[in-house]
Amino acid sequence: MDRQYLIVGNWKMNKTPSQSANLVREIVDLRTKRGIASHVTIAICPPFTSLDRCAALLSGMDIAIGAQNLYFEEEGAFTGEISASMLKDLDLEYVILGHSERRTIFHENNELIHQKIKAAQACQLTPILCVGETLNEREANRTLATIEEQISSALNGVVDSNLVIAYEPIWAIGTGQTATPEMAQEVHQFIRKLLQKQFGEKGQRIHILYGGSMKPDNAASLLKQPDITGGLIGGASLVAESFINIVAATPHD
Ligand code: PGA
Repeated sequence: MDRQYLIVGNWKMNKTPSQSANLVREIVDLRTKRGIASHVTIAICPPFTSLDRCAALLSGMDIAIGAQNLYFEEEGAFTGEISASMLKDLDLEYVILGHSERRTIFHENNELIHQKIKAAQACQLTPILCVGETLNEREANRTLATIEEQISSALNGVVDSNLVIAYEPIWAIGTGQTATPEMAQEVHQFIRKLLQKQFGEKGQRIHILYGGSMKPDNAASLLKQPDITGGLIGGASLVAESFINIVAATPHD
């Protein structure tokens, strides 16, 4: 059997509901034209305001949908927040948690991210936990220590292996600078070991995505690495053609 990949589009704060609907239609059309690749799961993560519309358009199709955040409480006086069960009710499968933009701009810490992971799993949503080092941490040779700290605190006591990890070096996000395949593989291999330690055999099957300026022209060399099983795509997921070209770049027999 071909190795299985997961390619996720993180639309961030882009696309109104009607623009989102257009992009979804373009993605579906292009993918149908190019043929169905059974070794790749595709997911898109539009903004909250577009989720309902995208879910309706994709109903019955094998393109999954995720959200970009949630709040861990079940309900109550948390103005502006969205709970896991609200997302689950829209038939979503994934939720991105701990993205570096949320950690830096919105001051999310590892403890909060841990609570969010538990809330997502409790509602059978698959969290996509983002981890990654700053340029300073890389230059100070603290990449692996940073990743270990982020993973061990976010997954502290977690026994459910229903999750995805996205390794996103912060210096590579939206900058056009990408980690070399070898640099990324080193971190992915390290993450794989941490997951095996925590989840045993099941840790072997958890997707570990690379994110940070993944584009159609560098995707194949990254996705060839033994421990990179997909991508979390920002900028290049906002145009149907480049997103589907990344999907098409996943190696298969
Ligand atoms: P990028 O974003 O592909 O635009 O670098 C990736 C991400 O932040 O998820």
